[in-house]
Amino acid sequence: MPTHRLARCHNLEDLRREARRRAHPMVFDYLDGGADDEVTLRRNSRAFADYELLFRALVGVDAVDSATTVLGTPCAVPIIASPSAGNRLFHTEGEIAVARAAAEAGMIYCLSTLSSASMEAVAAASQGPKWFQLYVWKDRGLVREMLQRARAAGYGALILTVDFPVTGNRERDLRNQLLIPPKIRPRHVWQALTHPRWTLDYLRSPAIRYANLSEDQPAASLADFVAAQLHAGFDWHDVEWLLGEWSGPSLIKGVVRADDATRAVAAGFNGIMISNHGGRQLDHSPAPIDVLASIVDAAAGRAEVILDGGVRRGTDVLKALALGARAVSAARPYLYGLAAGGHAGVRRAFELLTTAVRRDMALLGIRTPAEMDASFIRRLSAPASLQQDTRT
Ligand SMILES: Cc1cc2nc3c(=O)[nH]c(=O)nc-3n(C[C@H](O)[C@H](O)[C@H](O)COP(=O)(O)O)c2cc1C
Repeated sequence: MPTHRLARCHNLEDLRREARRRAHPMVFDYLDGGADDEVTLRRNSRAFADYELLFRALVGVDAVDSATTVLGTPCAVPIIASPSAGNRLFHTEGEIAVARAAAEAGMIYCLSTLSSASMEAVAAASQGPKWFQLYVWKDRGLVREMLQRARAAGYGALILTVDFPVTGNRERDLRNQLLIPPKIRPRHVWQALTHPRWTLDYLRSPAIRYANLSEDQPAASLADFVAAQLHAGFDWHDVEWLLGEWSGPSLIKGVVRADDATRAVAAGFNGIMISNHGGRQLDHSPAPIDVLASIVDAAAGRAEVILDGGVRRGTDVLKALALGARAVSAARPYLYGLAAGGHAGVRRAFELLTTAVRRDMALLGIRTPAEMDASFIRRLSAPASLQQDTRT
């Protein structure tokens, strides 16, 4: 994508539009969509509008510094790149482009178990801080081997995703008959022809596969693979085994209840990612911002809390910090960038978010993330998100 066109993207919605323009619709829908009626998907972002920011006047903000640490890992801004599967679906540069752009922006990058570039290839391509996200397979030997490989490749923390015991009902993908790797069926041909940049990129690239799994574990589709391999019976007892195998910093991803947060802390997790998988799993689960304060209370300083999902503006990041999050994490923002323009598109997405955070810190009257506290935020008594559609 020409750079001048990326430069004309002034927010993530602009990048989303460019992603839609370039990517095959079945791939764009996989990126953009959620479960069932997509109520949670929409609410994740819109719920931020129910909070307002009480900025402080005359603070002297000529030296704003957005740097912080998350689980001891330094980052230039309190935003983490959430794990996302199969990035080469969107652009052949895939996970490597995202990991490099995250490192350039000073952000922590999380690699998915189901990445389309191997954990070793990503580690070799990017020197920035990296964490590894795990889906738990029935085969403990396979899990153990993945943990060993992740440790050897330098992934500094383990993220256990727990909101995915089975795959959510993503009707856009069903309607599109999406398979991973995608198959261009007769019904997809016209759309392939009208999205030539994606199609040429796809046809010229090596076949997309789950690169952390060996070649002899082929999957006809994500749904088939997950149905066959995912350990839906995994529970808190198994967590003890898992954390014993890893014995490094660990986070649990996919918690929305205070009692689960309490249990996660007791189990030994160092970080809690409040998440509903970006609205892709259980529809009508709450927006992370609405449960954040209760989970921060439950964690009681014994684990760092990260808000995952729906973040599209600098003010969203700062609202999460005001309610006690250490950082936020996001996936679609960089995936829109990737689908729009590969590495340059991801860089633009991160630039938009990091610039916004620093500008909004100045406008709010804080110089460092540590200065953010509950005095800066107020929940509206009549939620704005119910009165008007402030976000698409
Ligand atoms: C295309 C796509 C693929 C994803 N794949 C994974 C995954 O492999 N593992 C995981 O834990 N979360 C996965 N997620 C969820 C993200 O990590 C994150 O929780 C969610 O997207 C946050 O919402 P946001 O996209 O609004 O930022 C995926 C999300 C998207 C959009």
